[in-house]
Amino acid sequence: MNSEELRKSFLDFFKSKGHAIVLSSSLIPDDPSVLLTTAGMQQFKKYYTGDLDAMSDFKSQRTASAQKSFRTSDIEEVGDKTHLTFFEMLGNFSFGPVGSDKPDDLGTDGYFKRSSIHWAYEYITKVLNIGLDRIYVTVFEGNDEVPFDEESYKIWHEEIKMPKEKIVMGNRADNFWGPTGDSGPCGPTTEIYVDGVEVWNVVFNEYFQEKGGKLRKVENPGVDTGMGFERLLSVLQAKESVFETDVFGDLVSKIKEQAPSLENKENIVRVFADHLRGSIFLIADGIRPSNKEAGYVLRRLIRRLLAYEVKYDIHSNFFPEAIKIIKNKFVEVYPELNNDKIILDVLEDERTKYQEAISLGAKEIERLNVLGEKITGAIAFNLYQTFSISPEITLELAKNVDKDNFQKEFDQESKKHQEISRAGVEKKFGGHGLVLDTGELKAGSEEEMKKVIRLHTATHLLHQALRDVLGDGVEQRGSDINPERARFDFLFNRKLTADELKKVEEIVNEKINQELPVRFKEMPKEDAEKTGARKFFKGNYPPTVKVYYIGSEDDILGAYSKEFCGGPHVENTSEIGKFKIIKEEASSAGVRRIRAAISG
Ligand code: ALA
Repeated sequence: MNSEELRKSFLDFFKSKGHAIVLSSSLIPDDPSVLLTTAGMQQFKKYYTGDLDAMSDFKSQRTASAQKSFRTSDIEEVGDKTHLTFFEMLGNFSFGPVGSDKPDDLGTDGYFKRSSIHWAYEYITKVLNIGLDRIYVTVFEGNDEVPFDEESYKIWHEEIKMPKEKIVMGNRADNFWGPTGDSGPCGPTTEIYVDGVEVWNVVFNEYFQEKGGKLRKVENPGVDTGMGFERLLSVLQAKESVFETDVFGDLVSKIKEQAPSLENKENIVRVFADHLRGSIFLIADGIRPSNKEAGYVLRRLIRRLLAYEVKYDIHSNFFPEAIKIIKNKFVEVYPELNNDKIILDVLEDERTKYQEAISLGAKEIERLNVLGEKITGAIAFNLYQTFSISPEITLELAKNVDKDNFQKEFDQESKKHQEISRAGVEKKFGGHGLVLDTGELKAGSEEEMKKVIRLHTATHLLHQALRDVLGDGVEQRGSDINPERARFDFLFNRKLTADELKKVEEIVNEKINQELPVRFKEMPKEDAEKTGARKFFKGNYPPTVKVYYIGSEDDILGAYSKEFCGGPHVENTSEIGKFKIIKEEASSAGVRRIRAAISG
């Protein structure tokens, strides 16, 4: 079975069992407490909790998907036979209430342990034709908080007739899953192993874990299963590693062909294959290299590749071919890969930035190497600040490293630095309140501060006006405001026309002339989300947030503009003055930048 056939066979099987097939969600989750989508259940969290209703959205309480996933926890392991950063996960899901839970019930109501286990076993043994001799399973043994999963044990043993010695007890670390993020559905799991490789994790969401870790039993338990796609393929295709399956075959061959110096360096070839594929998928979903959060994960992947090019003396550029191969292999399932031109631009842009920085930084490391200097975490942080050389790269290039304290010292320095810059901003604003994560405001005096605050409110109007004119695809990517001008970066894939710019400018000035009130409310993050307020893409927000809204005294929902924001802002748009767009240009691939100023 090749990868296309496997994906299809899984989804067809669960479709025949009443499941609605749901497309993979983006790698950028809609849960700000999670950096990237790490599992199939991520997009369904709200169906488990009852905040959304699967019956009305999917016409079934049962869904199945092939989900793009990304786990940063495994980055250091990549290079061995099984670990990947980006991978696909096949899963079937049930959102309560539990119906008959009979495996021959092919309807659309919820199900639980019996149907899940029977179907998993049927799929593995009847559809994939894997014999019982190659299989064993695990169930949760229980602990102080959660009892032994006797029900699953009995289903395996008494109904499936799994011999006792093939049912292994697992502890909390291995057989209890979740939650993703700071809270959510979770519960005991039963796992299926084939040839000693864990291929399927079947989770019974009987609990909800509150923030802080407290478990409470839920009324309507759900099912969340996940099968590591590439691992399963390697088992089915009898390959030693995931990199020999058909999802990677062409890419791996191409890398070897383009870089003869990697001969016999299988683990480095694998890092290239994994990181190239991972970067391409991250960029396709709108992530751009930056120094924080998901953007930093992407930057790390790309920069590791670029550092390896230097280290292994590779002169060919893998990017264009890798994009072609990945697009070819996956575009039918993941149409966002049609953005191949943007993907290449982003990768090349990062290469240029990196080369500029690294050539200076590498020289500095070389100088330290020659002096025989020990590279500490503090030195590495300095290199990072000055040349954007990530600590991983420093470790690659430095000859003499203080390994024991390296990471600890690097983290300490980084924390110190954050505290210093935060204190700096606080002082400048005289404690007026800070920007949450919407961008950077810079002002050196009371006078400047007033101007910056006016520009800040104007930027909120600009954001909404851009959406009015260009549509909802417009999403903030960054903002930087000083007394001279506001700079606003947003997702949009072409140059704006003169007409569009004029319209945007007119709308902002119209809102200024209407003398609209600017107000904020503090509220729980969940409530704030329900207002539809704009969030900064991937901001990490505290449980209570401020929403600034423009255009009404009290009615947030009816306001013209609403954003998650820490302020400060003017009280009334009339204070802004006249708004003018100075320049519109590309900031990076797929991201436009507007510079604007105010007068009066
Ligand atoms: N959510 C479970 C996992 O990712 C199935 O393993």
